[in-house]
Formats: sequence, structure tokens, C-alpha cells
Amino acid sequence: MSVLARLLGKPTDDGLVVEPMRRRHVAEVLPIEHASYPRPWTAGVFHSEIEMMRRGERHYLIARDGNEIVGYGGVMFVVDDAHVTNIAVAARRQRQGIATRLLAELAWDAIDHGCVALTLEVRVSNTAAQALYREFGFVPAGVRKRYYENVEDAIVMWCNDLALPEYRDRLRELCPEVDR
Ligand SMILES: CC(C)(COP(=O)(O)OP(=O)(O)OC[C@H]1O[C@@H](n2cnc3c(N)ncnc32)[C@H](O)[C@@H]1OP(=O)(O)O)[C@@H](O)C(=O)NCCC(=O)NCCS
Repeated sequence: MSVLARLLGKPTDDGLVVEPMRRRHVAEVLPIEHASYPRPWTAGVFHSEIEMMRRGERHYLIARDGNEIVGYGGVMFVVDDAHVTNIAVAARRQRQGIATRLLAELAWDAIDHGCVALTLEVRVSNTAAQALYREFGFVPAGVRKRYYENVEDAIVMWCNDLALPEYRDRLRELCPEVDR
């Protein structure tokens, strides 16, 4: 979509508007967060992450359908890597491409930020998220033992292709709504 349409918050063909997360969004984000994770982030964590956006250390987006927030996600910038810290979609809106849209936007933003790689941790049991990440070229690179609640292992996944022109083509194929 054009930069102007994006700035004006116009919906794309999928009916979604994706825009930076603000403090005013947090109350609506929290129920999705609580439904998504056994150890959900608090409002305070979201506020501090949003604060770090101002310093260019983080980038968080929400996806809304009309006035309803249906998903969100974000990255932490570490040198020239972007670490996906959170991505979640309202249960009744899953399998509609919303996480794909958010991750595509975040990947484009990471590219614009000069990042060469994306990385994240995901629960061994979270096969849905792993399938999503594989679509984006993430591959498992290791395991952090008992990373979650000192019980469940995390798979560390990396996508090292961000600087490649072919990766931009992959993003355009995955999510034609976002084309930079
Ligand atoms: C993981 C999550 C963000 C995916 O969101 P979503 O909007 O449903 O994902 P999409 O519709 O964009 O799915 C894209 C692809 O990911 C894979 N995928 C997503 N959900 C899946 C599921 N439940 N089972 C298998 N594959 C799945 C599929 O390949 C899917 O493509 P398809 O629908 O054409 O088959 C969502 O399930 C969620 O919010 N889970 C709880 C929070 C969470 O686990 N976040 C990740 C933490 S690491």
C-alpha cells in the first residue's frame, strides 16, 4: 500500500489497519494477551515497551478491523538483529492471515531499520507459531532448556535472509497487502 494510505490509516484489501501500538491501545490488547499466554505481560510491561519505541529500541504494531484490535506484535532491535518479542491474534480471528500481516509488516520495518536477521524463541509445544515462522523462513537454531516457567524448552529460531532481495520477494508473496 502507498505510504500516504498507511499514514492515513486506510484499511488494505484484507480490511485491516496496521499501526504503531500506543498506550491507549493497551487496555484492548491485554485480554488478547491473557487469552494467549500462561504468563501474560502486564500493562506496565506494554507501557515500558512502548516507551522504548520512542528511543528506537523497540517497534510494536497493532492490527485493527474497524475499531476492534484483533492482533499485535513487536520486535526488539539488538544491533542489526530484530528479536520478535510478542505476536498474538484474538482467538476468534485466528487463521485469517492476521499474524502473517503483522509479521510481514514487522519484517519490512526491520529491513528499513537496517536489520539483517530476525530471531525469536517459541515453546516446543507451540506448533502453530512454529508453522507461521517457517513460512517466513525461520529455521530452528537451538534449544533453551526449561526457558518457560523453568519447565518447557524454547526453540530458538533465526531467519538470516533479511538483506537478500529474494527475501523481499518472499514477503511480497506472503503478504501482498504490504509492499515497500
Ligand atoms: C501463532 C498465532 C500468532 C498465529 O496467528 P494467526 O493470525 O492465526 O496466523 P495466520 O492466520 O497468519 O497463519 C499463517 C500460517 O501459520 C500457520 N498456522 C497458524 N496457526 C496455525 C495452527 N493453529 N495450526 C497449524 N498451523 C498454523 C499456517 O501455516 C498458517 O497458514 P494457513 O492458515 O494458510 O495454513 C496465533 O495462533 C496466536 O495468537 N497464538 C497465541 C499466541 C502465540 O502463541 N504467539 C506466538 C508466541 S512465540
